Amino acid sequence: MSTAGKPRVLLMHPILDPGPAILAEAADVIPYSPDLPLDEAYIRQAAEGCVGIVSQLMDPIREAVLSTPGLKIVSNVAVGFDNIDVAAATGHKVMVTNTPGVLDDSTSDFAFTLLMATARRVVEADYFTRQGKFRGWAIDMMLGTDVYGATLGIIGIGRIGRGVAHRAKGFNMRVLYYDPNPLTPEAEQQLGATRVDLARLLVESDFVSVHVPLTPETQHMLSTQQFDQMKRSAILINTSRGPVIDEAALVAALDAKKLAGAGLDVYEREPAVHPGLIRMPNVVLAPHIASATTRTRSEMSAMAARNMATAVRGGRPPNLLNPEVKK
Ligand code: GLV
Repeated sequence: MSTAGKPRVLLMHPILDPGPAILAEAADVIPYSPDLPLDEAYIRQAAEGCVGIVSQLMDPIREAVLSTPGLKIVSNVAVGFDNIDVAAATGHKVMVTNTPGVLDDSTSDFAFTLLMATARRVVEADYFTRQGKFRGWAIDMMLGTDVYGATLGIIGIGRIGRGVAHRAKGFNMRVLYYDPNPLTPEAEQQLGATRVDLARLLVESDFVSVHVPLTPETQHMLSTQQFDQMKRSAILINTSRGPVIDEAALVAALDAKKLAGAGLDVYEREPAVHPGLIRMPNVVLAPHIASATTRTRSEMSAMAARNMATAVRGGRPPNLLNPEVKK
């Protein structure tokens, strides 16, 4: 069936229903599905003649792509947008959109999943059991860390950080947070969260969970100096972006037993995982799946498709990150 006449949109990777139908109503969709990892020159080539690109978080969308003649919008199927040079997009008058809000609960759930799994050694216990090593109950078998009543330090109290704080209430946890932007006193009271500086959070927390976007300011915000401040019994959880943590320094700190464990969904050089982490039984590793529930991923797909459809029809997409481009 001919779709001539509709603006062309490059769909970098498949998205979930109802995203494809929303896109197809508004645009002539060019599916790409390249091999990963991707090179910007290939994306640029594929984007020639397209007004829009539906990208995902592993797609580098920078100057070489954003300068494609006729490009009007990049719709990222993610809340994070560190893969896109938004300043360069603004310079080329290209709109950039993301998918905020719809993944807060699934991501907060998963941060808590990693916290529980690491504290109670669930993955290690599963291997142990499958390998037939369970020969009977033992008083000292697989001893872990208590979660109920422990102190949780949340770095970044945006929507997902607040979601984690909310869950922590059910575990009677003392919640500390660090964020340059304080919550209102009412929100602090409602969440039972106390704002502290980063050093105090690191010194006092039994669990530290990271929920900041990746920016030049947050890159490597947790490194040797910060690990030295943490309790030796503490567990670090990261569901934000890998480069927020200096991964080599984390491996060194875990090797030196400066902290007790880590639960990680994101890595500094995804999809590569530091080999030091792979060999550690006190580290729980996941392949960047914090938002991966059927409902959330389909809502993200629909939202990204609606952002794109609105823009190609000449409108202002709801989740515009650089509003100065579209008055
Ligand atoms: C996932 O990491 C996202 O940014 O949506």
